[in-house]
Amino acid sequence: MIKDYTMARLPIIDDALDHFLSAETYPPQIYEAMRYSLFAGGKRLRPILLMAAADAVGQDGSRFINIACGLEMIHTYSLIHDDLPAMDNDDFRRGKLTNHKVFGDGIAVLAGDGLLTEAFGVMLAQPKVEPATLIKVIREIATAAGARGMVGGQTIDLLSEGKTIDSETLKFIHQAKTGALFTAAIRAGAMLANANEECLAALTEYAKQFGLAFQITDDILDVAGVEEKLGKPLGSDVKNNKVTYVSLYSLEEAKEMAKEAVRCAIAAISDLGVEAAVLRDYVLYLLNRDS
Ligand code: IPE
Ligand code: IPE
Ligand code: MG
Ligand code: MG
Ligand code: MG
Repeated sequence: MIKDYTMARLPIIDDALDHFLSAETYPPQIYEAMRYSLFAGGKRLRPILLMAAADAVGQDGSRFINIACGLEMIHTYSLIHDDLPAMDNDDFRRGKLTNHKVFGDGIAVLAGDGLLTEAFGVMLAQPKVEPATLIKVIREIATAAGARGMVGGQTIDLLSEGKTIDSETLKFIHQAKTGALFTAAIRAGAMLANANEECLAALTEYAKQFGLAFQITDDILDVAGVEEKLGKPLGSDVKNNKVTYVSLYSLEEAKEMAKEAVRCAIAAISDLGVEAAVLRDYVLYLLNRDS
């Protein structure tokens, strides 16, 4: 089910991103660098989940394409910066050389800056949404992407390299560096579709568990994945002395914890109808993903 769902939406997202970040704009060097990472083959999970959350509330989620693309641009910027020598120092991403390996560190920093900033311009141009709702949604995405969310998580992740941290801190890192953007995507979809409070609360809990399960499986794939499928190097976490779910716990325990988060995610949306079937399938897919 999610295969068809995804296949139907990928071209919509790619076409819109292509339109929002046109290659012909001056100066071409920065557009080339931004587009290089944006079109390197990401899974587009955040925009798709935004759409699936809106669909679950009974609206056509693909209407919210500007917000969906803004999230993907923010996510792509976070990956470009995450791979920099000053952070994880990785050479491959999405099956291609990392941005800084092709364009140099300076342009890679700027490509990230450009994507992050432009994302807000794109989101503000979202048509056919009440201004009050749009402001609420974009404000929430800003918080999730910033120091109270992804940037905050990346900060503790970086400062914790080579240190002993407890399970609470590790959970915070995962929920902030990865979970915050997933939660914003899913809540944005629900809010744009005018979900009631109860439904929004259920989807928020689903999103939190989704984000946690997603990053636990990311940690698992870093040691037990297949590099060609993953599109990024194995062993990045060991190389950087990161505390992860597979270093703090065993591989088996980490797999159990991912399963538990998936169970909680599905339980959280048990009162939602068949429209939420895609969300149930999406979180289950995390347990078997190889990329
Ligand atoms: C990778 O995210 C970074 C994390 C938050 C763990 P994805 O696995 O969604 O990366 P792409 O977008 O498909 O490349
Ligand atoms: C980074 O986590 C999450 C981001 C906010 C970019 P990781 O450093 O584990 O992500 P990967 O494994 O490089 O994709
Ligand atoms: Mg990292
Ligand atoms: Mg990394
Ligand atoms: Mg990782």
